[in-house]
Amino acid sequence: MSHHHTLILQRRAVLRLAGCTIVALTAVPSLAASAPLKIGTIGAGNIGRTLGGVWVKAGHEVMFSSRHPEELKDMIAALNSNKARAGTVAEAVAFADVVLLAVPYSAMLGISKDHAKALAAKALVFDASNPSPGRDGAVAEEALKMGAGLHTASVLPGARIVRAFNAIGAARFGQGGRNSSGARIGIPMAGDDAGALKIAAALIDETGFEPVVVGNLDFGKHLRPRTPLGGEHTADEIRAIAATLK
Ligand SMILES: NC(=O)c1ccc[n+]([C@@H]2O[C@H](COP(=O)([O-])OP(=O)(O)OC[C@H]3O[C@@H](n4cnc5c(N)ncnc54)[C@H](OP(=O)(O)O)[C@@H]3O)[C@@H](O)[C@H]2O)c1
Repeated sequence: MSHHHTLILQRRAVLRLAGCTIVALTAVPSLAASAPLKIGTIGAGNIGRTLGGVWVKAGHEVMFSSRHPEELKDMIAALNSNKARAGTVAEAVAFADVVLLAVPYSAMLGISKDHAKALAAKALVFDASNPSPGRDGAVAEEALKMGAGLHTASVLPGARIVRAFNAIGAARFGQGGRNSSGARIGIPMAGDDAGALKIAAALIDETGFEPVVVGNLDFGKHLRPRTPLGGEHTADEIRAIAATLK
């Protein structure tokens, strides 16, 4: 990764037994962020394949997944890298330290049922998915009511979720992160876990875009298309817009 920092992520469980406080380390993703990461994409459509492709080129190992991994063969061949492979969703989840959720929001409950436990052990779960009632039905209505970030957290309890990549056209993510004047475009990101935000920022930085933390996961409700933060803005513009939102 481009930043020379080491992230040792440790989740401590405090157990109180017979008056003693024991600090135990639970399933701990321990990542050196200067080393290549193992990234799994759930969804390998417009968003999954574009971002995954950028991260392969940045030197990470990426497993792209869909319910039909055999259909990803040509895409993997085109990447021409031994760091890229395709798998089932379960295989990608098992493989990854970091997961990118890039599916229609209607897939979220199924992903929760099958993978919530495994996703809770990941260092970072990027949530690029947007609830869109016309496409995704009732779960999207519910997510809009609760706020997209908090809703994803409610169906993936314990997961270190960072909402990002939600409101810029997918093709742009493969184009280096500059606007037509050469200014760097920001990616607003929202999350509750400091360690996950740090890894997310480094991965966004590697796409060429500038990571901008705009708030905690509750603020993720603003990270959708056709909202004030939607579209392309510089980091300063994102901060100014975010300051007007609650
Ligand atoms: N396109 C954009 O410009 C854009 C920008 C920002 C955010 N987003 C959001 O990002 C998400 C993905 O968008 P996209 O354009 O990449 O969609 P897409 O091109 O339709 O790809 C969706 C991917 O999800 C997989 N998928 C669908 N249902 C699934 C399920 N139940 N379990 C596992 N995988 C499933 C599909 O593969 P299989 O059908 O083979 O399983 C496919 O790989 C959406 O929520 C969208 O709103 C899109």
